[in-house]
Amino acid sequence: MKHNALTRRAAASQLAPFAVFPSRLAAVARHNARIVKQSASWLVRSREHVHYTYDLEPLNLEHLAWFVATVTGSRADAVRGYLAELQEDAELRRVLAGGLARSSRGATVDRVIRYGRRLGWYAFVRALRPEFVVETGTNRGFGSAVIAAALLRNGRGRLATVDFDDRSGELIAPPYDQVIEHVVGDSVEFLAGPVARRQPIDLLIVDSSHTPENDRAELDAATPLLAPEAVVLATKAYCWRVLPCWAEEQQREFLHFDEKPLDHWYRGVGIGASFPARVRA
Ligand SMILES: C[S@@+](CC[C@H](N)C(=O)[O-])C[C@H]1O[C@@H](n2cnc3c(N)ncnc32)[C@H](O)[C@@H]1O
Repeated sequence: MKHNALTRRAAASQLAPFAVFPSRLAAVARHNARIVKQSASWLVRSREHVHYTYDLEPLNLEHLAWFVATVTGSRADAVRGYLAELQEDAELRRVLAGGLARSSRGATVDRVIRYGRRLGWYAFVRALRPEFVVETGTNRGFGSAVIAAALLRNGRGRLATVDFDDRSGELIAPPYDQVIEHVVGDSVEFLAGPVARRQPIDLLIVDSSHTPENDRAELDAATPLLAPEAVVLATKAYCWRVLPCWAEEQQREFLHFDEKPLDHWYRGVGIGASFPARVRA
């Protein structure tokens, strides 16, 4: 009797994958239908074909606040305040929208301002109150303007940003250009040159995102230029091990924030952060 029950249970467990197949198929179909719907809506409403912009999901913003708070040793409610401050900054939105309207690449940009991970950069600058920020990879200057807005709110600090594309920096405009030095050139050569070496770097943002080798070369070139308490952020830490490896060699900490774009098919990127080591037990 007992033997029969065991045999029936074993047979049922072998059939289980087939029995649950319809519900598995339905779960995958629901998931893929949501992606197809988001993709179709994006194809109609957006003109972007590279450097996608997007807002972040509400819970992702809360995670971002805690991430910045943890890395900078700030209170989460203070960081939430910084995130709100950028979203409510009408002047910056006006300047960025004007720049996008005049853009030479106007046919392939959206005029809506969506900050994504740059909200985190803004909060880092507000929380750390750096004297000197370096950004590799200026592109249009979207991040540069955001960083400059935070520096102007702090009432101190300057940004140096580099890009080898001579069309880069088109969104760098008054009043934000007062605190930005935009250099056209190779990022590694820039880090070996006089602008980057003028004073210790308090915040380095590695966003040239070209190859892992280039990210590593930028980190190596910047290492002797960093202030002792410097924070280093890198965009491609979601897919490359460069920043965590460098952090370990330098006996620093590493954490990663993963972006969750709102109503977008794109998986998003993120913010890898390396910061001074805490005392470990
Ligand atoms: C992801 S975009 C930067 C986005 C920008 N930080 C923002 O917030 O919108 C990367 C930029 O890095 C630049 N770039 C890539 N490799 C570079 C290098 N070795 N030196 C200088 N610029 C580089 C590209 O021209 C591109 O504009």
